[in-house]
Amino acid sequence: YLMGLDIGTSGIKALLIKEDGQIVSSQTEKYPLHTPQAGWAEQNPADWWEATLKVISSVVKDSGVEPAGIKGISLSGQMHSSVFLNKDMKVVRPAILWSDTRTSRQCQQIYDRAGGLENLINYVSNPALEGFTAPKILWLKDNEPANYQQVSLVLLPKDYIRYHLTGEIFTEVSDAAGTLLLNVKEKKWSAELLKKLDISPEILPPVIDSIDIAGRISKNIADKTGLKQGTPVIAGGADNACGAVGSGIIQEGRVMVSIGTSGVVMAQANKPTADKQGRMHLFNHAVPDNWYMMGVMLSAGMSFNWVKEKLFDDTIDYDRLNQLAAAVEPGSDGLVFLPYLYGERTPHADANARGVYFGISGKHEQGHFIRSVMEGVTFGLRDSLELIKAQGIKTEEIRAIGGGAKSQLWQQIMADIFGQEICLLNIEEGPAFGAALIAGVGAGVYDNFATAESRIIKISKRISPVEENVAHYNKLYNIYQNLYPAVKDNYRELSKLN
Ligand code: XUL
Repeated sequence: YLMGLDIGTSGIKALLIKEDGQIVSSQTEKYPLHTPQAGWAEQNPADWWEATLKVISSVVKDSGVEPAGIKGISLSGQMHSSVFLNKDMKVVRPAILWSDTRTSRQCQQIYDRAGGLENLINYVSNPALEGFTAPKILWLKDNEPANYQQVSLVLLPKDYIRYHLTGEIFTEVSDAAGTLLLNVKEKKWSAELLKKLDISPEILPPVIDSIDIAGRISKNIADKTGLKQGTPVIAGGADNACGAVGSGIIQEGRVMVSIGTSGVVMAQANKPTADKQGRMHLFNHAVPDNWYMMGVMLSAGMSFNWVKEKLFDDTIDYDRLNQLAAAVEPGSDGLVFLPYLYGERTPHADANARGVYFGISGKHEQGHFIRSVMEGVTFGLRDSLELIKAQGIKTEEIRAIGGGAKSQLWQQIMADIFGQEICLLNIEEGPAFGAALIAGVGAGVYDNFATAESRIIKISKRISPVEENVAHYNKLYNIYQNLYPAVKDNYRELSKLN
């Protein structure tokens, strides 16, 4: 048996699987998210830890398996969120989360001190975004100097939980990459950037590979959870890297497209080539010495839910929404939607961007307003896919996951807008499943990721593009791409009024 934990934003999930991938037990436990001010997002690491003990105990109990049969445990976690610790390993203040946007000034500071975007990308392969960890450290220094004084270590959420399970302090490459302080190409902290930002390297943990053993379950934790003392705890990975492993994105040529609340397009890369304009993220993969390029849309499924709740009565169900949208021709009779309800990360990195329905005519019915949202979100995903292709990364096989991929209509829209076959998978358990597979590779249960993947992850369905639709969508995509630059300046003006 193998155990995977995912320390997410809404809660923690613990999964126990058999070595053939069969799920034995799955438990989740929620915890609160605090918003002390608009744009802020915080959590108490103590809440994560309490929930961790609960889910592990209940998985061990519920499954009834012999604890000695659990060969390894590993962790996935929300990226970028910062846990500030003092010399006694006590938290100094609540963790500032990846979705928190308080650090715009610090992002500007980072560009200034690094000497511009190009230099920053040379150091850490990524642009400065509010959600990343480095600007949070600078924010603490600028705004809570007394707290900053006490900080002797900064950890990411899953690394903090792993420390509690094992007593050992580590991070691993895939999560370290999201701090904006890692030299992603060389897998070590960027001494140059740390110096420019005046952040001491001593507050950062040692960096190991995702499949390395990072410690063992201590006696105390074994007593509290029912796990066996000495069970190996494998380093694990960032939730996106673990999600990729769980979807078989373990070799170049494979791409994962996920429509959840947010939208993610990520492709494995054999070489660390960053986008010089910083429109895409380049992070280390959980597969050793591999990388992935990723684009993130903030409102993917969220846009669809917005239509459901705000344009319709929330009692309408997803089937009915899909029926109404399916009754409309591809291209929504010229209605184009820009899915920027809460600003956008990829490709615009523009917090002021907002949604647009373009081309409304008197003939448009409800179904057009639903379908064009599905199409607009998919055009946004195509933006990321095009940027990945432009880096020379292969995108031969697209695997679709997440709530959006459950809609047959949306599956076809993806195939038609990407102009490429879409694959669905037999298994969709998310990052906790990927973490369990990482545990398996790290503990030597599987020789490598390819062995695990070929045994467990299968393509269950393939959806082919319809040529006629592809041609039509290509034309519409040109219009979609022209719209943002056309309205961009007005977004800034609009934000000043609100
Ligand atoms: C990735 C990102 C999110 C979090 C969610 O850059 O910010 O996907 O990892 O947990």
